[in-house]
Amino acid sequence: MIQLVIANDHNGCIGKNNALPFKLKTDLQNFKHVTLNSVCILGRKTFESLKEPLKNRTMLVCTKAVTGLNLISDSPDIWYTNEPLYWLKSFQKQKDISIIGGAKIYALFASLVDKIVWTRVDCEIQNGDAFYMPNTDNFTLANEASYEKDKDNEFGFVIQTWEKIAK
Ligand SMILES: NC(=O)c1ccc[n+]([C@@H]2O[C@H](COP(=O)([O-])OP(=O)(O)OC[C@H]3O[C@@H](n4cnc5c(N)ncnc54)[C@H](OP(=O)(O)O)[C@@H]3O)[C@@H](O)[C@H]2O)c1
Repeated sequence: MIQLVIANDHNGCIGKNNALPFKLKTDLQNFKHVTLNSVCILGRKTFESLKEPLKNRTMLVCTKAVTGLNLISDSPDIWYTNEPLYWLKSFQKQKDISIIGGAKIYALFASLVDKIVWTRVDCEIQNGDAFYMPNTDNFTLANEASYEKDKDNEFGFVIQTWEKIAK
């Protein structure tokens, strides 16, 4: 299974100054829950934006600065590659795959995705600099849960799960 996991605002904003543009504790908990034990594929900038590597998840970091597949650390499990589409097949044999951004990485894998876990944040970020809007043509809405703005979440949001329609 390949899932795309994203949180964006009304305009598709996912990032600002190489950080998340919203503070949503409950959504981060959901992100952890849905990606746990999967192979997370992410861009080099998103990797650099993390405070620490994601625990209990293999990370495949996309960068043109290396050739082939390079093991950077085996605990936690971090790989770098300039050929993520090629190496996807090897990782997919072992575990589920989570495409976790940023924008170019979402676009690169969009046609291969079976499931979209989409957090739609009720806000319009000013001066955002990273954008991606999932395309749900050929997907069906399987689940939806709403969360109010509260002390842990600076905006309200809806988490939707979209599943690819079998052909
Ligand atoms: N809201 C969300 O759900 C979410 C999710 C993820 C990220 N974000 C945010 O998005 C922003 C970062 O995203 P971004 O779009 O600017 O950058 P990004 O996609 O994380 O990283 C871009 C880098 O990925 C590498 N890359 C891209 N295409 C590649 C390919 N085909 N093969 C190999 N490497 C490739 C390149 O690295 P090199 O330059 O090293 O070659 C490129 O500079 C941050 O603000 C982050 O917080 C938000």
